[in-house]
Amino acid sequence: MAPKKKIIVLVGLMGCGKTRVGVELARLMNLPFVDSDKEIERAAGMAIPDIFERLGEPEFRRGEKKVMTRLLAGGDKVLATGGGAFIQADIRSEIKNKGLSVWLKAGLDTLVDRTSRTDHRPLLQGIDKETKLKELMDLRYPVYAEADVTVLTDGQTPFEMAKQIRGELESLGW
Ligand code: S3P
Repeated sequence: MAPKKKIIVLVGLMGCGKTRVGVELARLMNLPFVDSDKEIERAAGMAIPDIFERLGEPEFRRGEKKVMTRLLAGGDKVLATGGGAFIQADIRSEIKNKGLSVWLKAGLDTLVDRTSRTDHRPLLQGIDKETKLKELMDLRYPVYAEADVTVLTDGQTPFEMAKQIRGELESLGW
């Protein structure tokens, strides 16, 4: 695969570790780290739960697309995305054009465990997390599987994951 711009895009379901792994990977690769959810919050001047509550999910998705388009047009970086970003077809094809996607694939137990530690995710609020995550796995895993690289995250630390991803990228000539 020919190296394009060095934009490494981490994708995967809520709780798979995109942010924590992204920070470690950026450090290892000497690249800036950017979290698209944080950029959406900055652009909206509101936290994500407030965007969902006050403006609704469709407006969040529009903001997500705008912010992702801007970030993908910019310079080299490690980019952690929200779990739904790669599921939007327009964003996915932009990622394919501009960057290299890495799916952090996790099993249900890992996702339930990691998302249970916090309560800031609107899609998981007030419902049984395990049922919702299982539903999202069924819907989204076939789409995440289109990523350029897949790594399994169960039982691994963010630093171990970052080293593994760097190894995969090196073998692709990045
Ligand atoms: C979402 C995932 C969240 C955030 C929003 C929607 C999703 O990001 O973008 O709550 O659709 O899966 P994380 O994957 O970082 O939790």
